Amino acid sequence: IALSAGNRSTSVDLSMNIPPLLGSAPFAQGMEAGFQHVGQQLGQGELMSYHVGAGTREDRAAAVQWLAPMLGTVGTDQVVICPGAQTALCALILARTQPGELIAAEQLTYPGLLAAARVLQRGVVPVAMDAEGMLPEALEEACQLRRPRLLYLVPTIQNPTTATMSAQRRQALLAVAKRHDLTVIEDDPYWLLAGDAAPPLAAHRDAGCPVYYISTLSKCLAPGLRTAYLVVPAGEPMEPVLDALRAIALMPTQSMVAVASQWIRSGQAQDMVQRFQQELRERQAIAARYLPTRAQAHPAGLHVWLPLPPRLDQYRLIQAAQEQGLGIASSDAFSVEEPPPGNAIRLSLGGAVDQGALAGALAKLNEILSEAPEARHNAIV
Ligand SMILES: Cc1ncc(COP(=O)(O)O)c(C=O)c1O
Repeated sequence: IALSAGNRSTSVDLSMNIPPLLGSAPFAQGMEAGFQHVGQQLGQGELMSYHVGAGTREDRAAAVQWLAPMLGTVGTDQVVICPGAQTALCALILARTQPGELIAAEQLTYPGLLAAARVLQRGVVPVAMDAEGMLPEALEEACQLRRPRLLYLVPTIQNPTTATMSAQRRQALLAVAKRHDLTVIEDDPYWLLAGDAAPPLAAHRDAGCPVYYISTLSKCLAPGLRTAYLVVPAGEPMEPVLDALRAIALMPTQSMVAVASQWIRSGQAQDMVQRFQQELRERQAIAARYLPTRAQAHPAGLHVWLPLPPRLDQYRLIQAAQEQGLGIASSDAFSVEEPPPGNAIRLSLGGAVDQGALAGALAKLNEILSEAPEARHNAIV
């Protein structure tokens, strides 16, 4: 079995949320066609120069086309081309908060937010969640007690729990955000894959609070494109975000952004999303066959969240899986609090090279789970 990325020691790596089929022939052909198109522009010299600012008119127009299913009509001048969602997230934290200020997030959340907050010296306030994600009443309480400035949400196929918010939940959270003057960062990498999610919070033009929307291409197309689209809400200043981006990354890799734009303009990007969606549906069906029924997933999601029995030792489980060449992610990585609120693992289904490799890996995991070591308590005296 080929390694899914880099030179990791595991033979099937289900620890990283990457799209499936990155090594497939149709994907490689699509990349080649994109590079060929971009190569034709090399003679003009522009492509390999500095591109500081929000992005070229052509790239911002492609972004608007990509964003239309999520947000409807977006002004080209509201869009900033960023080198990935992680960079956009850091830029927003820098632009909208001061060191020491707080960010409210679900108690289990995307580890990149935790890393950014730690490095930038902002605190994260954990907010309780249920099967739909963040609870509005828990956010209300957190606002009263801790006064966060930012609210970070992944409302569709949340990473890691796979929770997707109903339209009502989105509205209720917006109402709390408005009441407490919060700025919202809506990080939405999975909306197109889900295919059935309620409109993003940023699609509500009358939200009453600023909602910054981030749509990365990392999960629907490829992380190596390092292209994400940030939508700055109408009426909010662009300069602080651009200043922060300039300080962090100066600019995205223009050749990759140009490939992404070409894919979107030609319709290839949208075709690829459909292909990935179908593949993920089949992979999720395989996962449902091998994993216990308590596993949580969206039918077209990239990952599965598997709560473990409280007495099962997740570290020994992860170690046993590693010894069998299987990479999985521990719930600790996602937890705002110490200790984490529960015992669970996240399984990413895109990392296996094909469905056979995935089935083999999950069968192995199933076997390890059935023999899994329970935490032993020494006699208490
Ligand atoms: C919620 C969320 N945001 C951002 C990212 C990273 O995106 P990018 O590769 O564009 O930095 C991920 C990747 O797992 C994610 O799940």
